[in-house]
Amino acid sequence: MDLSFLDEDNSPFAFGRIAVGETFVNRTDEKKRLALNFAHKVNTILISPRRWGKSSLVKEVGTAMNKAHKQFRFAYIDLFSIRTESEFYEAYAKEVIKCSSTKFDEWVNNAKLFLKNVTPKISISADTQHEFDLSFDVKDIKKSYETILNLPERIAKEKKIKIIICIDEFQNISSFTDNLAFQKRLRSYWQLHQHVTYCLYGSKRSLLIQLFEKKNMPFYRFGDTMYLEKIQAKYWQPFILNAFAKTKKKINLDQIDRIINLMQCHPYYIQQLCYLVWIRSGKTVKDDDVNASIEDLVNQNANLFEREAESMSNSKIAIIRAIASDNHSGLSSADIIQEFKLGSSANVTKTLKALDLDEIIDKRKGEYFLIDPSFELWFRKRFLGKRITL
Ligand SMILES: Nc1ncnc2c1ncn2[C@@H]1O[C@H](COP(=O)(O)OP(=O)(O)OP(=O)(O)O)[C@@H](O)[C@H]1O
Ligand SMILES: [Mg+2]
Repeated sequence: MDLSFLDEDNSPFAFGRIAVGETFVNRTDEKKRLALNFAHKVNTILISPRRWGKSSLVKEVGTAMNKAHKQFRFAYIDLFSIRTESEFYEAYAKEVIKCSSTKFDEWVNNAKLFLKNVTPKISISADTQHEFDLSFDVKDIKKSYETILNLPERIAKEKKIKIIICIDEFQNISSFTDNLAFQKRLRSYWQLHQHVTYCLYGSKRSLLIQLFEKKNMPFYRFGDTMYLEKIQAKYWQPFILNAFAKTKKKINLDQIDRIINLMQCHPYYIQQLCYLVWIRSGKTVKDDDVNASIEDLVNQNANLFEREAESMSNSKIAIIRAIASDNHSGLSSADIIQEFKLGSSANVTKTLKALDLDEIIDKRKGEYFLIDPSFELWFRKRFLGKRITL
C-alpha cells in the first residue's frame, strides 16, 4: 500500500479527545473565571451538555496554572467508570498522592506516610516507572473515611501546596448505593478544607441540578455554578481559516459559515466536520467537499439514531418534531403545547423531563433545543423530509 499521503501535515483538528494547545479555541472569559475560582479557593460546579468542552476547559486551566505556579496542583478524577464508594476512595487517594509530587518515590512514601492507618496496598508496575496504584481493604475504609477524605488537606498543608481536585462526570455519584449518606460524608469533610478546592463537573443537567440546587441535598450551594456555553462563531471562523491555511489548504468564508451554522457552534461536531472536510479536500476546498462531508457525518450516526428513534414513544417523537421544525429559535414548553397540540401540559412536562434525562434536549433561558446537531439534521431529513445540506 502506498502511504505517501500520510506525509502531509498533521490534522489541525481534534475531536474525541481533549482539545489542547493549538486546537483549543477561545474560552477566554471561562478560563479566567475558573482560574480566579481556583486561586481564591472557590469550589466550582461546571455544567454543559456532552461534548461542549468541559474536560478540555478544566485541563487547559489546570495545565496553565500549574505551569505558571508550581504550588497549584491538580488532581483529576473521572467518575465515568467508578461505580462504588470504595472505588471512589481509591481513585481519590491515588490522584491526590500523584499530584502532590512529580517524583515516583515520593508517591510511595507519601502513601505510606499519610495513609498509614488505612494500610493501603500499593502496587507499582515494574515495566514503567509511572504506574502506581492504591487499593484499600473494604473493612478498613469504613473506619477511615476521615483519613482518606482529609488526605488532600493534610498533604497540601504539609507541603505548602494548593490542591485543586477536579471530578468529572460527578453526577454519577447519585447512582452509588447509599449515595445520600456518601454525599453527606464528602460534604462534611470537604467544607472544612482550607487548602483544597473542588471543581465538580458533568453533563446530566437535571441530575446535577438535583445535587446542587435542592435545598435538602448535602451539596446545596457548594460553590460557583458555571453553565458552559458553546463557542461563538466569531471565534470558530479565524480558527478554521487558519487551521486550513497553515496546512496549505484554502477554504472560503461561506464554506466556514456553513460548517459552523450546520453544526450550530457545537465544539465536537465543528472539529469533526472540519476534519472530514480537511481529509477529503485538495488544495482548495470545494462546496461539494463540504456537502459530502456533512452527509458522511450524519450517515455515520444514522444507524444509532434510527435505533434510538425506534425505541422512543410517540410523545417524545412529537416533541422532537416540534423542536426540530422550529429552525433553532428555541421553544418554551408553553409554545410546544400550544403550537403543536401535544396533549395535556402534564404529559408534555413529563416527556420533556424524560428527553432531558436521555440527554436529547436541553433548556437554556427557558427554551428547549436538541443537543446533538447531527441528530437534528438526521431527524429533519427522516421525519420532516428536509434536505441535510443547505
Ligand atoms: N475550547 C475548545 N476549542 C476547540 N475545540 C473544543 C474546545 N472544547 C472542546 N472542543 C471539542 O469538543 C470535543 C469535546 O470536548 P470535551 O471532551 O472537553 O467535552 P466535554 O464537555 O468534557 O464532553 P463529555 O460531556 O462527553 O465529557 C473535543 O474533542 C474537541 O473536539
Ligand atoms: Mg468530559
